[in-house]
Amino acid sequence: MQVISTIAALRERLAQSASLAFVPTMGNLHEGHIELVRQARSHAECVVVSIFVNPLQFGPSEDFDEYPRTLDADCAKLDGLADVVFAPAVNEMYAQQQTMFLELPPIANELCGAARPGHFRGMATVVLKLLNIVQPQVALFGKKDYQQLHIIRQMVTQMNLPILIVGGETVRAADGLALSSRNQYLTVSERSEATFLQQTLSNMQQEVLAGWRNYAELEAVAVAALAKRGWQVDYVSVRKRFTLRQAERSDHDLLVLAAARLGATRLIDNLEIDIE
Ligand code: PAJ
Repeated sequence: MQVISTIAALRERLAQSASLAFVPTMGNLHEGHIELVRQARSHAECVVVSIFVNPLQFGPSEDFDEYPRTLDADCAKLDGLADVVFAPAVNEMYAQQQTMFLELPPIANELCGAARPGHFRGMATVVLKLLNIVQPQVALFGKKDYQQLHIIRQMVTQMNLPILIVGGETVRAADGLALSSRNQYLTVSERSEATFLQQTLSNMQQEVLAGWRNYAELEAVAVAALAKRGWQVDYVSVRKRFTLRQAERSDHDLLVLAAARLGATRLIDNLEIDIE
């Protein structure tokens, strides 16, 4: 496995590979990331993982400075699974000040976009740059960040990038909490409470499967249950799975998503719901 930090050296190395599968990350790798890397192997001869904490997708009061940077441990986890790790410095990725951006669709201002203005623009900018640098045939992203995956799919389709986007299932801890680099910010008592977010979504899924179609009421009940236990809720929302628009009674392919804070830590999760 080679660890490369410049765009020029990466391009030279990748020119030798017939097919490339790419997993972009911000590092501090856990089993959710590693599962995407394992899946990548089935798509191409050469697997590339990027590790880059992208300043453009963090708001001024967010955790860019605190975000865990663990490159040596990450490379040890990737050894034997990835062929190339691309770990550029900020001034390599943004050699010129980034003054050019895509205009994102309205969905980028809803859900997580409402609580984190500019987040998805910064995310889409770095993902587009990374896709242009690596030029993979396949790129893999987790369903854990469903709205991110949706926006990337829209970008790739509407901008005609010749790349297959693969969505990987959310990897969870034994108690159901979705794995996330941010889970380590939780105190011991917050960590045991954190599983309630997934339980809330799972209860909503059961109610919908049992026939409940008043989604606004279902959302309100969930928000109240979380708030009562001390969560600060950004949103709980039942959406159409393929467009992320508000769900309607006649929809069959649904997604319930939530974002809420426990103390200083913001957690997100979602579950797909298939109505027969
Ligand atoms: P990061 O949070 O490091 O996540 C990298 C990839 O791993 C994303 O596609 C994310 O959805 C996926 N992932 C994270 N936790 C997961 C879990 N529990 N199960 C399955 N997949 C999981 O997402 C980003 O970085 C950045 O926004 C990035 C796309 C790299 C752009 O900077």
